[in-house]
Amino acid sequence: MTLRSHIVGVGGYLPERILSNAELSTMVDTSDEWIRERTGIRQRHIIAKDQHTSDLATEAAKQALEDAGLSIDDIDAIVVATTTPDLIFPSTASIVQYKLGGRDFPAWDIQAVCSGFVYGLAQVDGMIRGGMFRRVLLVGAESMSRIMDWQDRSTCVLFGDGAGAVVLEARDEREANGIIGSVLHCDGSYRHLLMASHPHPGAAPGVDPMDLKIDSAGAAAVEMKGNEVFRVAVTKLGEVVGEVLGKYGVRQSEIDWLIPHQANIRILQATAKKLKMSPDRMALTVDQHANTSAASVPLALNHIYREGKLEKGQLLLLEAFAGGFAWGANLVRWSKD
Ligand code: COA
Repeated sequence: MTLRSHIVGVGGYLPERILSNAELSTMVDTSDEWIRERTGIRQRHIIAKDQHTSDLATEAAKQALEDAGLSIDDIDAIVVATTTPDLIFPSTASIVQYKLGGRDFPAWDIQAVCSGFVYGLAQVDGMIRGGMFRRVLLVGAESMSRIMDWQDRSTCVLFGDGAGAVVLEARDEREANGIIGSVLHCDGSYRHLLMASHPHPGAAPGVDPMDLKIDSAGAAAVEMKGNEVFRVAVTKLGEVVGEVLGKYGVRQSEIDWLIPHQANIRILQATAKKLKMSPDRMALTVDQHANTSAASVPLALNHIYREGKLEKGQLLLLEAFAGGFAWGANLVRWSKD
C-alpha cells in the first residue's frame, strides 16, 4: 500500500474588525503611503475583545470541514499551528476539538511561527503516509495583535489576525499526487532578530489588545530587526524553493501557483522572480490581511481556492519564512475537483 495525503477541504476566517493604514496612522507616526510602498499592506483584521485564537481556528475549521463534506466525527486528529495560543496550556488544538464537538482523538499545537502551517503540512503528511491517521484537520491560527507593541511603528503596522484550515485525507495510490513532499529548515543562530517574549498580558481574556499601551521596554511584544530579517528571508526563500524543486525532480516551469507566506510584497516578488513566475500566478493577500503568521499560507490558499483559480492537476508551491529563523516549502499536486 502506498499512502498519499490529499487536501480535501479548505477554509478561512478573518475577524470582522478592519484596521486600515489610515486609522493606524492616527495611532503611531506612520502613513498609508509608507506602509503600502514598503510592505504592500493596506489593511489588517483585528480579533474582537471577546474572541480567542481558538475561535478563529474553529470558524476556519468548520468551513474546511463543510468544504470537504465531512463532520468532526470523520476526523482522526487536529493540529493547530499557532504562535498566539489561547493559553500556555492546554493546547489551542484541544480547545478547538472541544468547540467543534470532537472527542477522544489526538489534538496538539505546533510552533514554528510564520512557518507553522508549512511545518504542520510536512508533519501531518508524514503521519498520514505512515498510516497513523486517515483524516487530519490542520489549522494555522493567530491573534498577532495581542503580541504587538502598539507604540512601535516598525512592527505594529505589519501584522494581522486570522485563521486558515485544511482537511487532509489518506489515499492509496502509486503516482506522486496530493502532498508531493516538503523541505524544512531552522537556524537558531538568528533567533534574536525576530522574537516575542512570553507570557503577554494581551493574551488575557476580556482585554482589548488595541487598548493596551505596552511599554516597548517591557516584556511583551514582537521585536524585529526588519532590515536583517528581510535580507535573510529573500536569500533563504530563494534557496528553499530551488531545493524543494530539486528534491522532487520538478522544473520551475511546471509550477502553476506560488502560495507564499504573506509578510511583505517585496519578499513575495523576489521569490516569484527567482522562479521566473509571473506575479499573477502568485496568491496575494498581504494587502488585505497583512502578516497573519501561521494563518498566512492557508489563508492565501483559501483565497485563490474560493476565487475558483485552482484546477485539478495543478502544481502548487507553498513556502514560508519565520522567526527562529525557521523556513520551509511544500509541493502539492492539487487533486480537489
Ligand atoms: N512608518 C514610517 N516610517 C517607518 C515605519 C513606519 N511604520 N517603520 C519604520 N520607519 C522608518 C524607520 O524608522 C527608518 O527611519 P530612518 O531612516 O529615519 O531611521 C525608515 O523608516 C526606514 O526603515 P527601514 O527599517 O530601513 O525600512 P525598510 O525599507 O527595511 O522596511 C520593513 C522596513 C519592516 C517593512 C522591512 O524591513 C521588512 O519587511 N522586513 C521583513 C519583515 C518580515 O518579513 N518579518 C516577518 C518575517 S516572518
